[in-house]
Amino acid sequence: MILVTGASGALGGLVLDRLAGHDVVAGSRTPVGDTARLVDFDRPETLATAFDGVDVLVFVSAGYADDDVVLARHGAVVDAATGAGVRHVVYTSLVGSGDGLGIALAHRWTEARLAAAPFAVTVLRNGLYAEIPASLAVAAAESGVLEVPWGEGRLSVVAREDLADVTAKVALSSADHVGRCYELEGVTAVGGQDVADALTGALGRPITYRPAPLGSLWQLPQPPFQVAHTVSLCSNVNAGRLDLRPGDLPALLDAPPRSALDLITAAARPPLG
Ligand SMILES: NC(=O)c1ccc[n+]([C@@H]2O[C@H](COP(=O)([O-])OP(=O)(O)OC[C@H]3O[C@@H](n4cnc5c(N)ncnc54)[C@H](OP(=O)(O)O)[C@@H]3O)[C@@H](O)[C@H]2O)c1
Repeated sequence: MILVTGASGALGGLVLDRLAGHDVVAGSRTPVGDTARLVDFDRPETLATAFDGVDVLVFVSAGYADDDVVLARHGAVVDAATGAGVRHVVYTSLVGSGDGLGIALAHRWTEARLAAAPFAVTVLRNGLYAEIPASLAVAAAESGVLEVPWGEGRLSVVAREDLADVTAKVALSSADHVGRCYELEGVTAVGGQDVADALTGALGRPITYRPAPLGSLWQLPQPPFQVAHTVSLCSNVNAGRLDLRPGDLPALLDAPPRSALDLITAAARPPLG
């Protein structure tokens, strides 16, 4: 049996879609239906029952919190998977080029905990989602200005759908991926001007890229940890640390990676009808 955590989240949901028809269970803080189990990393007492009889655990990181919270969550998952005798854990981590990001610490800590555990492990080091610039494109399409503190830098991005394809494939053929760590870098890097140019072409009206100062981010109406993560991301883009690198994504997909620029421009187009 495969259990996928974060089932109501974007990535977990896509992975579950791909595993439909197989022996799979959804794990969620809000389980719905007969084939779902209560999985709340903040309540470790839910995990022993949830992981009972699980052969392959698709462990989707739960990183939207301060590091102490994330470490406690992820440590509880490793302990519970050990206690339940899970055979193989597939963990969705962060790509190596993201080592300078604030969120990297919790991912690398989790990878180390997993490596010391008695079960087999596969680490999927996920690239940054193309949905991140796609969400910025929506506002840019409205205002005509893409204002983001990326300077002249670019970030390599990947469609969540591609990551879900790889995750499901690895979960279904886990024995072939024991001990592997895959760098799921996107195959496209986008900068502010690239996004503005793509939007201009797709919308048929000019969208201007205006690099914002990094300091402007501190005013974002987000929880402090989220602001810190956003600043860290944009600092790394400015420094050219997230630009394109070769990775394992094309080799693990059965089709060419989805176009990040298509995904970004589609997000900015008004819905038909
Ligand atoms: N590569 C990237 O660019 C990138 C960007 C942002 C985040 N991430 C990481 O990737 C993960 C998945 O991304 P996503 O887009 O699917 O995020 P998402 O849509 O926000 O889903 C995250 C899911 O994590 C689960 N979760 C949160 N707290 C939990 C807890 N205490 N116990 C158990 N599950 C918990 C929740 O699932 P349920 O509601 O079903 O419980 C939530 O829906 C994120 O959680 C984050 O760690 C990666």
